[in-house]
Formats: sequence, C-alpha cells, structure tokens
Amino acid sequence: MRSYKNIAVIGAGLMGCGLAQAFAYCKDMKVMLQSRATPADEVFKRIDSNLKPLLDKGVFTQAEADEIKSRIHPINNMAEAVKDADFVIECVAEDMEIKQNLFRDLEALTSRECVYATNTSVMSPTEIAQKMTHKDRLVGAHFWNPPYLIPLVEVVKAAETSEEVMDYSMEIFRRIEKRPIRVNKDVPGFVANRLQHALWREAISIVERGIADAATVDEAIKSSFGMRLPQLSPMENSDMVGLDLTLQIHSYILKYIESSTEPSPLLKEKVAKGELGFKANGNGWQQWTPETMAASKKNLSEYLIKVIYGK
Ligand SMILES: NC(=O)c1ccc[n+]([C@@H]2O[C@H](COP(=O)([O-])OP(=O)(O)OC[C@H]3O[C@@H](n4cnc5c(N)ncnc54)[C@H](O)[C@@H]3O)[C@@H](O)[C@H]2O)c1
Repeated sequence: MRSYKNIAVIGAGLMGCGLAQAFAYCKDMKVMLQSRATPADEVFKRIDSNLKPLLDKGVFTQAEADEIKSRIHPINNMAEAVKDADFVIECVAEDMEIKQNLFRDLEALTSRECVYATNTSVMSPTEIAQKMTHKDRLVGAHFWNPPYLIPLVEVVKAAETSEEVMDYSMEIFRRIEKRPIRVNKDVPGFVANRLQHALWREAISIVERGIADAATVDEAIKSSFGMRLPQLSPMENSDMVGLDLTLQIHSYILKYIESSTEPSPLLKEKVAKGELGFKANGNGWQQWTPETMAASKKNLSEYLIKVIYGK
C-alpha cells in the first residue's frame, strides 16, 4: 500500500513554490521543496504573496496560512529532500537534458516505491523518462498557473507508465482537492493546451484578417460562449444541441476556419518588433497602461478566488 504523506517538489521557481503550497493545503502531507538557488526566506516571501489575496478574501485565516507554511520545508540538499519521498514532482527548467538527468539521478536517491512526476508544459514525459531504469514509475503531471488555485492537473500516461502509478497519481491529486484528468496518450499539448491554442490560432487569425480588433475578439468570447464554458463545454454542448446540428455547422464552416500549421505572420512580425505585451510596457495586441495591466492581473486573481472558493 503506497503512502501519500511525503512529497518532494524539485525547483523553487514560480511553479515549484506554487505547487509546494498546493500540496501543503493537505493537512496530512509534508512537503520538501528542493531549491538550488532560492533561499528559504525568498521562498516564503513568494508563498506569502500568493496567500495574500486568499487571506484578504477570507479563504484562509492567518493561523491556517501559518499552518500551511509550516508543512513546507525548503532545502538545498537534493538527497535529503527526496530520501523519504513517496512522490517527487519536478518543476525545474524546461530543458530535456536537465529533466532526463534529474530523474536518472533521483532513482538512486529515493525508495523503490517512489512515484515521479514531471510538470513539463510541452515536452514528452516518455522522452523525459528515457534515462530511468524504472520508467513505469513516471507520469506527466501538468499543472496550470497559478497551481495553488487552478484545479486541473493533466495526468499523462507516458509510454511505459504503469496503470498502478496512473491510479496512484490521480488519487494524490484528488487528496489535494485538484481535479485530475487522465490523458491516455503522450501527445504534444496533452488535452487542455491543444484546445486552448486551437482557439488562440483562430483569435489571432481574426485580428490578422481585419475581421475584428484584439479587444473585440476577447469581448466576443467573454460575453458569449466564454461565460458558459465552465458549465457547458464543447462535448456536452454538442450533445445538448444535437450531433446532427454539429455536423451541419461543421460541414459549412470548417473550411473557413484557420488551419495553418505555422505561427501567424502577424504574430512573428510583432515579436520581431518587440511588441511583446505586458513585458514590453504594455505594447502587444493592444496598448496597455500600468493601471490597466495591474487591473487585468487583479481581476483575474479575484475572479478565480470567487469561482473556486465562492468568496
Ligand atoms: N510558468 C508556467 O505557467 C508553467 C505552467 C505549467 C508548467 N510549467 C513548467 O514548470 C517548470 C518550471 O517552470 P517555472 O515557470 O516555475 O520556471 P522558473 O524559472 O520560475 O523556475 C525553475 C526553477 O528551477 C530551478 N532549477 C533549474 N534547473 C535546476 C536543476 N537542475 N535542479 C534543481 N533546480 C533547478 C531554477 O533555479 C528555478 O528556481 C517548467 O518545466 C515549465 O515548463 C510552467
């Protein structure tokens, strides 16, 4: 019988700190956060700043926040961080060789029962497992930013992942009150990013063709199907309106929808000119001001807390 108690998170960057926090919400878990470069006080500064809006909205009391933090143990030494681990998840740089070498080395430092997960955004978990001896013990576990709020975890079955390790991984994420989904095949983009970028490709294409400007594209989504998506997503929606109607609509419209397998020329042009969005003084698809950029981030955080915690 596997245990769900000792968690090790490797890499204390944006995702690593957020993941340590998400696991520490569970009273029965102890989280070792392996940090190569970030000192413990920096880790807790980041976690405090993640927790602040949750405290402000009354999701947690200060005592609960302190308890969550008491379950997180930043540590520099890798062997110490993982020696008792039941489950290790890595959040290091998105670099194939770094991830492959990390899992190869972890096998020598962990128990024979330990389950391993990679939080890679886009790389193949099958390829990441290539230097391991026990490839059956690794899954993809794709969290979404901010991982201490967004419920989805895509649990990806790599070529050699065992069913038992898939089941265990699904259960560990249920225990931290996430909503894990099972992804049966290791494909680029897993499930959610394939869906998301199908929509982004069309959104950019609409702007590029001059059909509507960027703000209008976002408004069209926010005021229509975007509102009902959390309750009514495409497959359920198709069942509701009828597969016959879905077929009629697709028979007419698919030939007009963007199908390019290359990034949009307009996107390439804007990137080449340095029009990168918020990180370029707000110059992107739209021109943002410091105030509208701050409002965009605040509105997102408040919206997520409201839909997830009802506060
Ligand atoms: N940022 C996102 O929205 C997001 C979402 C889902 C998944 N991811 C994935 O999560 C991983 C981490 O992303 P991030 O945004 O937290 O990056 P980040 O740069 O904020 O953090 C990476 C951390 O890993 C550390 N690190 C790098 N190499 C290491 C090594 N060999 N051993 C130990 N630590 C090492 C770095 O010092 C840094 O603290 C990436 O694989 C990324 O693709 C990111």
